[in-house]
Amino acid sequence: MTVEPATGPEPQSVLSPLTTAAIFLVATVDEGGEQSVRDLLADLPGLQRSYGFGAPDGRLSCVAAVGSDAWGRLFGGPRPAELHPFEELAGRRHRAVSTPGDLLFHIRATRQDLCFGLAAEIMDRLRGSVTVADEVQGFKYLDVRDLMGFVDGTENPQGRAAVDAVLVAGEDADFAGGSYVIVQKYLHDLDAWNALPVEAQEKVIGRTKLTNVELDEPASHVSLNTVTDEDGEERQILRDNMPFGSPGRGEFGTYFIGYSRTPEVTEEMLRNMFLGTPDATHDRILDFSTAVTGTLFFAPSADFLDDLPEPPAAAAAERPVPHTRTESPEGTGADGTLGIGDLNRSTAP
Ligand code: HEM
Repeated sequence: MTVEPATGPEPQSVLSPLTTAAIFLVATVDEGGEQSVRDLLADLPGLQRSYGFGAPDGRLSCVAAVGSDAWGRLFGGPRPAELHPFEELAGRRHRAVSTPGDLLFHIRATRQDLCFGLAAEIMDRLRGSVTVADEVQGFKYLDVRDLMGFVDGTENPQGRAAVDAVLVAGEDADFAGGSYVIVQKYLHDLDAWNALPVEAQEKVIGRTKLTNVELDEPASHVSLNTVTDEDGEERQILRDNMPFGSPGRGEFGTYFIGYSRTPEVTEEMLRNMFLGTPDATHDRILDFSTAVTGTLFFAPSADFLDDLPEPPAAAAAERPVPHTRTESPEGTGADGTLGIGDLNRSTAP
């Protein structure tokens, strides 16, 4: 794919390097909450500076992204060409669920307190206008390992390759500098995983556990996620996965977040994982990890947020019918959240 020089609109901080702390906040926009959300989006760079300026070593950043159903409620004019709801995948053994989400805030820093402060400020502005669907506080674990014990993120593209893989360019000029984002919250069954000998775990992942060396395993997670275009060129995404959990509650997870120039690439990887390939019926990582959320967003450029398009003429008039939300609980729980993101073992093997 030909890519123009990086002279287009300034992206949000999607290309920021992995940090030691992150908060992933997903919310739906309440009827009538559209203007508060627009105000917040316009103020976000300023809020980021307020919290980050005094702590330059903290590398605080926040990417805001908008889901398909909310886009037309928030902004008039054209919409990102490939923005659509996350498509649920029903494999023979495992399901990639599609769960509600109009807004994603991906907040990163080297200090959890900075992430927390910015998330609190964002929610302070949005309270009464949105309903939180899911909130996850991620952390760096040991030498960048997931809670299954493997180094996660090694094969991420870097530099120019990352820019090419992640940022929309001339193919959708109105939205150049933006990026599609897919998130999935996975909960691990660590008892079952840890009962597996290390050698068997390594075959599942496709890398050695201690030394992180790639193995030649056609049915591994790594192989299923190595996808190429018609010319044999590898198609990449940028992952900023973070472990999260609560030992007290026996909760251990990986928050998957993948940025890409077109959602097609991540979707192909998901199809390989959940529906299988000629080499594998499914990704065996799923025998030990259950996806409890799944949502697709578009993170517009920083320039777009700086100069938002006019709101649609009748922003609050018509709410599109949700796509595949039948698996999600209806209405909010007693805590005011949508109550998603918990493990529903009925989807587990
Ligand atoms: C339970 C959730 C997941 C865990 C624990 C996990 C863990 C890992 C680990 C340990 C690696 C090897 C090192 C690396 O290159 O990062 C890896 C590679 C990779 N994963 Fe995942 N992953 C998860 C979900 C996903 C999902 C949902 C996708 C895509 C939709 C994905 C895409 C990839 C890609 C593209 C690679 C690199 C393949 C290559 O070597 O080129 N992962 N993952």
